[in-house]
Amino acid sequence: MKILSAEFIRSCHEVEQFPRDRLREVAFVGRSNVGKSSLLNSLLNRKKLAKVSRTPGKTRMINFFRVTTGGRVRDDFYIVDLPGYGYAAVSKSVRAQWGPMMEGYLSKRSELRGVVLLVDARGIEQHDRSTLEWLKAIQRRALVVTTKVDKLSRSERPTRLAAIRDGLALPPDVPVLPYSSVTHEGRDQLWRALVALME
Ligand code: GTP
Ligand code: MG
Repeated sequence: MKILSAEFIRSCHEVEQFPRDRLREVAFVGRSNVGKSSLLNSLLNRKKLAKVSRTPGKTRMINFFRVTTGGRVRDDFYIVDLPGYGYAAVSKSVRAQWGPMMEGYLSKRSELRGVVLLVDARGIEQHDRSTLEWLKAIQRRALVVTTKVDKLSRSERPTRLAAIRDGLALPPDVPVLPYSSVTHEGRDQLWRALVALME
């Protein structure tokens, strides 16, 4: 994908702050530390656009990145980086704020065309499964990406990926896209899937 520009717009914690130019959006969802912000940087070919950390809980607000792509047609949209779920070390009051903030965003935002659910290629957790079920229940289109696939050996890859499909109870027609933000493996496939998700 030819990226003409990628720019951080703002961090928001309430609806009033969201962009109002009605561009389409896709959002990255997944547990803390799974690699959402890294994936955003890898996709957009930028090293430090979204803040990444080894410590879970780095992203704490709803972050809007405006992207312009080229190619056959010029396209403008937002990629939205969200805080991770399942991070125990934040205070109760912070967590009490995150839940409704993200649920509100994911269930009500009309510009949101689809959600990319990121799960660790090494295995899923209950929270991943319930998030996917919830997205289905609220009728959000979702796409599953397994992150950090560089941490799997070639031989363990098929079994791990099959276990993830199984664990998430994915129907055969729903793809699982392996990704590595270190090697950028999966970038072209994910771009194609994102374009389809936004249609
Ligand atoms: P929160 O903002 O806390 O929800 O985390 P996040 O999902 O945005 O994760 P982030 O991108 O900050 O990455 C967390 C850690 O995982 C960092 O140390 C990254 O360098 C590492 N990481 C992310 N993606 C990959 C990957 O594809 N391969 C490897 N080996 N490490 C990765
Ligand atoms: Mg993050």
